[in-house]
Amino acid sequence: MQLTMIGTGYVGLVSGVCFSDFGHDVICVDKLPEKIEALENGIVPIFEPGLEDLMARNVAAGRLGFTLDFAGAVSKADAVFIGVGTPTRRGDGHADLTYVYDAAREIARAMDGYTVVVTKSTVPVGTNRRIEEIIREENPEAEFDVASNPEFLREGAAIEDFMRPDRVVVGVETDKARDVMAKIYRPLALREAPIVYTDLESAEMIKYAANAFLATKITFINEIAALCEKVGADVKSVSKGMGMDNRIGSKFLNAGPGYGGSCFPKDTKALARIGQEYASPMEIVESVIDINEATKRRMIDKIMELCGDTVNGKKIAVLGVTFKPNTDDMRDSPSLTIVPALVGAGATVHVVDPQGYKEGKDLLPGVTWEEDAYAAMTDAEAVILMTEWNEFRALDLDRLVSIMKTPKMADLRNVYDPEEAAKSGLTYVSVGR
Ligand code: UDX
Repeated sequence: MQLTMIGTGYVGLVSGVCFSDFGHDVICVDKLPEKIEALENGIVPIFEPGLEDLMARNVAAGRLGFTLDFAGAVSKADAVFIGVGTPTRRGDGHADLTYVYDAAREIARAMDGYTVVVTKSTVPVGTNRRIEEIIREENPEAEFDVASNPEFLREGAAIEDFMRPDRVVVGVETDKARDVMAKIYRPLALREAPIVYTDLESAEMIKYAANAFLATKITFINEIAALCEKVGADVKSVSKGMGMDNRIGSKFLNAGPGYGGSCFPKDTKALARIGQEYASPMEIVESVIDINEATKRRMIDKIMELCGDTVNGKKIAVLGVTFKPNTDDMRDSPSLTIVPALVGAGATVHVVDPQGYKEGKDLLPGVTWEEDAYAAMTDAEAVILMTEWNEFRALDLDRLVSIMKTPKMADLRNVYDPEEAAKSGLTYVSVGR
C-alpha cells in the first residue's frame, strides 16, 4: 500500500514510522521545512524510546520518506492519514480544527484516483462527516471515502502500543474503504489484534469516551486517596484490592498529583464541550476536570504543610517535571501548577529531569536546573518527587538524609515505602497513605 501521513507531530510521526515497518510505502508530509530537513537527516524531534532506530531502519529499507511536497505525496496515495494537531481553542475549550480542515481542502485538490482519507487526529464527533463535505465541495469529481481511525498511543510506549494494540478502531461506511483499512492493518490482524469496525460517529466517540473514562479512573483514585489520608487507610492497598476485581482492573489506579499530558486534559475538556453543545451534559467528566485541578492544588498544600507552612527562602529540590516518565512532554504537567506556586511563595527551586529541560526552561522561569538528583538535594529543606522516572526510583535514602539541610520528602508518586523512609530518618509524606 502507498500511504501518506499529513503532519509529523507525535501521532503522525509514530504512525507513519510504524506503518512503514508493516511493509507499506509511507511518505510523511509537513509544512515546516526545518522539520522535514531534520527528519531527512535522521533526527527525531521528539523523545520517544525506539522511534529513531525504527525510523532509520525503514528509511534504509526505502519504505519511508519525508517531503514538503503535499500534492505530490497525496496524488500517489491509496490512503492519506490526517495526523495534524487539534489543540484546545483559546477561550471556549473546543478542539481547534483549523489544521484538520485545511488539510482536508488541500487533500481534495491533490487527490488522484480512489483515495481513503483517514483521520488519526482526535476530533469531535461529526468532524469526519464535515471532512467528507469539504472534500466534495472542493473537488466534486473526487473518488474517495473517509475513515476515522483514532490512536490510543501512550507517550513513552507509543511503538509498543502501535504494534501490539488492545484493539484498532476503524469508522468506515463503505466496503471499499473497509477493504483498504483491512489491508493497511493486516499485519496486526495476523497478530490477532481485533479491529473494531463502526460508523464514523461511533469511532470518534470511542476515542473521547475511552480517554475520559481513563481520566475518570485516575481522578476517582485520587479522590479516594484524599479520603484515605483522613481515615488512615493506604491507597496503594486499596487500589490493589480494588484492581484485582476483573471488572475494575488494576491499570490507571495509581494515585498521584493529577493527570497531565497531551490527551486527557484536552479530550476531557472537548468532550464536556460537546455535551454542552448537544444539551447532554457530561457531568461526571466536568467533575473530573475540576477535581483534577483541585488535586494539583492539594499537592501544593501538602508540600507547604511538610515545610512548616512556609517555603520562603528555602531550597526545594524537584525530581521530575514532565507529565510522566519517558517523555520530554510538559503539556499540562502538574509541575506547571506546583512549581510556579513554590517559586511564587519564595522558594529556591532546583529542578532535575532527564528530558524536561528542552521544554521546561521557558515554562518554569526562576528555577535552577541541575544535572543530578543529589546535586539538587544538597542543602535542600525538602525534596518533591513529582515524576517517577526510573532514576528517581532507587535513590539512596541514607545519602539523601545526610546531604539535605532538613531531610523531608513529598513523594507525589508513592514510589517509596513509608516505613523504610522513616527508618532512614526522612520526614516523609506521600499521596493517600
Ligand atoms: C493517554 C492514553 O493512555 C492514550 O491511550 C491516549 O491515546 C493519549 O493519552 P498519555 O497521555 O501518553 O496517553 O499518558 P498516560 O500514560 O495515559 O498518562 C496520562 C497521565 O495520567 C499522566 O500524567 C500520568 O502520570 C497519569 N496517571 C496515569 C496517573 O496519575 N495514574 C495512573 O494510574 C495512570
